[in-house]
Amino acid sequence: MNIILMGLPGAGKGTQAERIVEEFNIPHISTGDMFRAAVKNETPLGLEAKSYMDKGLLVPDEVVIGIVRERLSMDDCANGFLLDGFPRTVPQAEALTATVKELGREINHVININVRREQLIERLTGRWICPVCGASYHTMFNPPKEAGVCDKDGGKLYQREDDKPEVVAQRLDVNIAQTQPLIDYYSAQELLRDINGEQDIQVVFAEIKSLLRG
Ligand code: AP5
Repeated sequence: MNIILMGLPGAGKGTQAERIVEEFNIPHISTGDMFRAAVKNETPLGLEAKSYMDKGLLVPDEVVIGIVRERLSMDDCANGFLLDGFPRTVPQAEALTATVKELGREINHVININVRREQLIERLTGRWICPVCGASYHTMFNPPKEAGVCDKDGGKLYQREDDKPEVVAQRLDVNIAQTQPLIDYYSAQELLRDINGEQDIQVVFAEIKSLLRG
């Protein structure tokens, strides 16, 4: 099963992706995670990506398309994949269509998680991440059992640079501007399915599972 998970920053893509990949046993391909790993390792890709990410801007299409194309051709994607945060622009979507075609595959589901802007701001500014496994928590909506510590591996939770309030506003504006054309692109292919992301995390997951199984 080849799945795209769409949604504005903070919509719950990472939270749901963790659950989906476990349920369907497919790799989780998050372009944001790939860039953050490159930033951490101070690679040339990381240095370039950081200059955009810290300002809440999108990394240029040609950079993102290149790393996703390479990732999708790896062996572990042969039985399916979950894309989280890609594509984010129509040129990225067109490049993805071409790449999956070259690989003799197709996209089966595009899930769009919808959450209002004010809720997104609350979620992003209260989010804490595990540096070891990448799990995402929220101080109010999804707290770890012990404050500041990952439930899964005991990692010391941290806040992302781009979750600062002034960067959050810019990220939302940039992403909102790109979203409608992408929705139109996948609606025209009759692949897009909307999910109300303002429900409890488990309810959102149950709805996604039922869409994917249906
Ligand atoms: P990326 O890492 O993809 O960030 P994003 O899209 O901004 O999304 P987030 O990770 O912030 O949010 P999420 O939807 O995963 O929400 P989460 O599950 O954590 O990208 C970062 C940057 O990299 C971009 O800004 C850009 O610069 C660059 N980049 C990445 N991909 C790119 C691309 N394709 N093209 C160009 N540039 C690219 O949830 C948020 C919080 O809410 C958590 O605390 C969680 O616990 C809580 N929560 C989740 N669900 C619920 C719920 N149902 N109810 C209550 N709380 C909830």
